[in-house]
Amino acid sequence: MTLVRFVSADGNHIQEVRGAPGVRLLDVAQNAGQPLEGTCEGQMACSTCHVIVDAEDFARLPQASEEEEDMLDLAAHVTRHSRLACQIWLDETLETLTVRIPSGFHNMQGR
Ligand code: FES
Repeated sequence: MTLVRFVSADGNHIQEVRGAPGVRLLDVAQNAGQPLEGTCEGQMACSTCHVIVDAEDFARLPQASEEEEDMLDLAAHVTRHSRLACQIWLDETLETLTVRIPSGFHNMQGR
């Protein structure tokens, strides 16, 4: 099980949850009640599942596909460590994963 830390946009709140191998980060976030939309359910057509990954954890993730990079271009508040949560699957090599949920228009749930 991977320990996933969700950090709020302002950095003031951290929620820790555990996710099983093979589960998408987007699903872990949504099950935990995090304000991550994921409108297209992983069809790479929205970029509303954008998260900013901790620098060390980012280096341990498989590289983003070209398609994912293209979708990230449409997201707000993109950084060098941005990824799409629908394209990250937890596995046993990821002991911990810390991600920040960016604030912005994608947050339609108002949290
Ligand atoms: S859920 Fe739409 S691109 Fe990830």
